[in-house]
Amino acid sequence: MSNMTETNQHILQSMQGYIERVKEILPTLYSHTPKACINTYGCQQNVSDSEKIKGIMESMGYELTEDYTKADFILFNTCAVRGHAEDRVFGNIGRTKQLKKSGEKILVAVCGCMAQQQIVCEKVKKSYPYVDMLFGTHHIQNLPEYIYKRLTGSGRIFDISDDFNEVVEGLPIHRDGKIKGWLPIMHGCDNFCTYCIVPYVRGREKSRLPEDIINEARQMIASGFKEIMLLGQNVNSYGKGLDCDINFAKLLRELNGLEGDFRIRFMTSHPKDCTLELLDAVKDCEKVEKHLHLPFQSGSDRILKQMNRRYDSEGYLNLINEAKKRIPGVTFTSDIIVGFPGETYEDFCQTLRLVKEVEFQALFTFIYSARNGTPAAKMDDPVSREEKGKWFSELLAVQEDISKKNYASYVGKTYRVLCDEVVGNSKLSGKTLFAVDIEFDADESLLGKFVNVKVDRFTNVLEGTIV
Ligand code: 5AD
Ligand code: SF4
Repeated sequence: MSNMTETNQHILQSMQGYIERVKEILPTLYSHTPKACINTYGCQQNVSDSEKIKGIMESMGYELTEDYTKADFILFNTCAVRGHAEDRVFGNIGRTKQLKKSGEKILVAVCGCMAQQQIVCEKVKKSYPYVDMLFGTHHIQNLPEYIYKRLTGSGRIFDISDDFNEVVEGLPIHRDGKIKGWLPIMHGCDNFCTYCIVPYVRGREKSRLPEDIINEARQMIASGFKEIMLLGQNVNSYGKGLDCDINFAKLLRELNGLEGDFRIRFMTSHPKDCTLELLDAVKDCEKVEKHLHLPFQSGSDRILKQMNRRYDSEGYLNLINEAKKRIPGVTFTSDIIVGFPGETYEDFCQTLRLVKEVEFQALFTFIYSARNGTPAAKMDDPVSREEKGKWFSELLAVQEDISKKNYASYVGKTYRVLCDEVVGNSKLSGKTLFAVDIEFDADESLLGKFVNVKVDRFTNVLEGTIV
């Protein structure tokens, strides 16, 4: 990589040194090839980080396994966005206690967004003595060092320092898929929505250099990937702070210019950074999906202010209408939080109004979960969980009707789809350029290929036939 900084090279060299050392000692500790089980929670960013962790584990000589009971190294890459994900992780960490009693040399590691929080670090230190190492979101590259030290007699390792906030280029990677692949283009978030823990656990926004992104995309295309998902907590503010003439719209155009038959998707976009220049790039670039995942979180202007979202419902609707006008057939999905502190039923009705007006293809809906250290966690939250649950169900029912209507409108039309998944015996699923999935009878040999499918009916999925 031409642009690698000295610091980055130094980090990779140091990591490589520890990789070699671990490689040397593993045969002295295990009579078999040691196995690593990497458990991932949360968003695509974490899934993508885990692909790097898997790459690092393999480069040290570990074999990957999905079965934690057979593993010599068990890692939990955790999520902190909502409370119940955290509870689930603690439950699963607890289950490794029994395994460690077996007398085998088993290492347990916890990392990711949840681990980055001081309060979680303390809890693990105190109440989970069988966890060997815990590290935050900025330290994946140090994993070989932690493992080496722990395997050679060091005490338990806890490292959640956040003074290092650079993107490390050139880490090994084990990609989970062959057709669809993740490509992180930026890390962190500067927005500080008042309910959200991400800026605290992932740090400030950092964009990767365009040439590093383009190189990685080239490699992915060369190795057969057909769908590249560009990732970022705030993907459309890409380029901020970089010393070159680039923004997200320009990056899309550059990637679209790469040779090959493949598609480009991206998430997550923030409405405040969704420019007309970006909408036009989505329209013009034939490889870019005509789909926007555009979280609006709430339809109430009062709540949006409290959330620090920096747009209002009118601005959001204008943006949607502009996108509909510029990008023929564009589809939308969104994230919504129900029951933000102080939200009333009237506020919630504004959310319903917006949902009905936009007619999203699908929604990702969440009941508000207070996150320690965020401003919203200190706000008055008088509405009961039960009441919020009722609003939540009402929202789901409204969206279900809209989704059905949306899906029904596809029947009779023919789309070029990317065959990306096996969903049954001789049955594949394929994605249209509008991010809609269609199921059809086809042989597995078509996986990764583009075919034309005519939509025959909508049951609870779209079903079609290859034409
Ligand atoms: N409670 C509930 N949902 C949340 N999200 C983020 N933080 C919280 C929270 N504290 C949701 C938002 C975001 C999505 C990834 O998760 O809708 O867009
Ligand atoms: Fe969280 Fe808001 Fe950043 Fe998204 S944009 S990661 S919701 S702070």
